[in-house]
Amino acid sequence: MNPVTKPWIQMKNNKRGFGSDNHSGIHPQILEAISFVNEGHAPSYGTDDVSSEAQGLFKQKFGAQAQTLFVFNGTAANVLALRLMCDSFHSVLCTDVSHLNNDECGAPEILGHCKLVPLPSVNGKLQLADLKKSVVRRGDQHFSQVRAVSITQPTELGTLYTYEELKEITAWAKSENLFVHIDGARFSNAACLMNKTFRELTTDIGVDVVSFGGTKNGLLFGEAVVILNSDLKKKAPYIRKQLGQLPSKSRFIAAQFLAFFRNDLWKDIASHSMRMAQELRIRIEGLPQVEVLYSTDSNAVFVKLPQAWIKELRENFFFYVWDEHTFECRIMTSWDTQIEEVHNFSQQLKMISEKAGELRL
Ligand SMILES: Cc1ncc(COP(=O)(O)O)c(C=O)c1O
Repeated sequence: MNPVTKPWIQMKNNKRGFGSDNHSGIHPQILEAISFVNEGHAPSYGTDDVSSEAQGLFKQKFGAQAQTLFVFNGTAANVLALRLMCDSFHSVLCTDVSHLNNDECGAPEILGHCKLVPLPSVNGKLQLADLKKSVVRRGDQHFSQVRAVSITQPTELGTLYTYEELKEITAWAKSENLFVHIDGARFSNAACLMNKTFRELTTDIGVDVVSFGGTKNGLLFGEAVVILNSDLKKKAPYIRKQLGQLPSKSRFIAAQFLAFFRNDLWKDIASHSMRMAQELRIRIEGLPQVEVLYSTDSNAVFVKLPQAWIKELRENFFFYVWDEHTFECRIMTSWDTQIEEVHNFSQQLKMISEKAGELRL
């Protein structure tokens, strides 16, 4: 049996769709990089040349003071970032729709050793007025002490803080002696769209730690915790180890980031997935009973659909129902989304919408 033509692993339910940018596979150039470092032996736990080179690259992108630690996933990156900033009596301001608050099963509190304070969001974004109202009872031993602000950029709703908004929040945070964390699971999308360097969006405006995503942008897995505040560096390697996030074969994560930055592959990946989301939005906006929500800045289109349509649509193209009460759905594109898929999805939605219109006549 030829293992190439007759795979010995059969994948079931691997139909392409719009579930998430982590439903897609590995970008070929990144897979190639993994293969390149699969030669011979190399020292473990990040002491190899490939890891050093990738860390050097992060210094080039974020500034010479950047210390980068690779971890396995985005939740761990966030948890490590919070642990560096907080003691057990501290709190972190974030939005009510943040991944930190809703999708990390309490890890930020349990492992990050802090209390999250979810604030109301507008289009997925923190509002300065709410932040200001949250800095209270400082010095009161009965009350968790506010220590940091966590900003997701791009937001969980596919929207983007403008550069001015980012600067305003970070400047205010600094004036209040608060740390600033960016949950950047898709940060390269933001940098690409804003046409700014990573340094301009972080170091230069006073961000302290970034959870820099790879998995959602074409990597097999792997995220980078980029520490920009030198005061937070010393304990970072120890805490990463305690959290079970020190990769022994670190070179396989590092090599992926080398490929990601090489020839600006990250920009190709980001611009493609965001363009596919735009194309999808253009095609479905205005269809009867289809309510497109928020602005589509990054690679997700949020749309409210009649409940009865969802099952039929999902038979061909999987996507998530984001809110099971309002039937708000998230249609997410990825580095490998093809324009034909966008077209076929929108055509099917159009057909369903027309059929529903005829039935109502
Ligand atoms: C904004 C955001 N932050 C963090 C994460 C966590 O990533 P992981 O699932 O790798 O833990 C995700 C994953 O969906 C995310 O969307």
